[in-house]
Amino acid sequence: MNPTSLDLSMFPRYALLEGPTPIQHLSRLSTQLGGATIYVKRDDLNGLGGGGNKLRKLEFLMGEALARGADTIITVGARQSNHARLTAAAAARAGLQCELVLTRAVPRFDAEYLENGNILLDDLLAAHVHDLPAGTDALPFAEARADTLRSQGRNVYVCPLGGSSPVGCLGYAEGAAEIAAQSRASGIAFDHIVMPNGSGGMHAGFVAGMKALGLNPPSVTAFAVYAGAEKAHATTLDKANHTACLIDASLRVEAGDIVIDESQLGDGYGLPTDAMRAAVRLLASTEGLLIDPVYGGKAFAGLLENVRSGRYGAHENVLFVMTGGLPGLYAYRSAF
Ligand SMILES: Cc1ncc(COP(=O)(O)O)c(C=O)c1O
Repeated sequence: MNPTSLDLSMFPRYALLEGPTPIQHLSRLSTQLGGATIYVKRDDLNGLGGGGNKLRKLEFLMGEALARGADTIITVGARQSNHARLTAAAAARAGLQCELVLTRAVPRFDAEYLENGNILLDDLLAAHVHDLPAGTDALPFAEARADTLRSQGRNVYVCPLGGSSPVGCLGYAEGAAEIAAQSRASGIAFDHIVMPNGSGGMHAGFVAGMKALGLNPPSVTAFAVYAGAEKAHATTLDKANHTACLIDASLRVEAGDIVIDESQLGDGYGLPTDAMRAAVRLLASTEGLLIDPVYGGKAFAGLLENVRSGRYGAHENVLFVMTGGLPGLYAYRSAF
């Protein structure tokens, strides 16, 4: 029998989670669609700072930052980054200063996008926001800012886009183990697992965790929401191998372990599609569940398309990983 837990005790960790998140059966939606049975993994219920998937990564990232004696954390993202908001929340809880380098990479110019949603919460969480124009590379700016602060005596930890360093990705290796344990305990085998792929860290960590547990990663399909499939595949494979190496130096992730579908990307990152709008409304109106317009909405649209086209068998179980990002709905008021 495969193991359902990973020993990650050698990595420093700062507690941000409240224990396993539930898996719920979407009975009304499954009946309405008349195909596969759909379940959701409620990682949106990781609650700090408005909640979401990034808290799994931040447990390890904050652990590393604190182990290095950091007093300040800097991260990067788009203006409505959920990762940035949750980094600010984790920093507040740990008593660290937080600076966010946010770019206007998404061409949306209405007041809700620019000032509501995550950006409002960043302010409440006392993060210092650097507002960069479109086309600026945020990471070199963050590194330079870190050097300036270090010259003033501060100890700064810089966290990459999406928190998707190999150490951050460990959070989702453990997420995979959590699902394996829940599947074993409930007797429900998931034939397909569906999630969004943004910076690729969640998918990479998940696949690395599955490999370490002896499970079959191609059962995971990630819908690309940030980069096209080719680029997302290369980034995710690289991150997955670095993460796997941290768990077990002999572990390798193969190209075929990473399955990415770009059919829901539309015109690009953060740009709404009709399928996303319909998916957000359908899940809300049939199950009372809210997913975000940038990540979950597009990935769930892909899941719906696969159910309707018969790609999943009628007797199969499909698990959708709900990742949070609810504040994005307020920022995208004009998209609905
Ligand atoms: C709500 C939400 N879902 C999914 C993702 C995707 O995770 P990753 O960047 O690790 O691919 C993100 C990333 O910011 C997110 O905020």
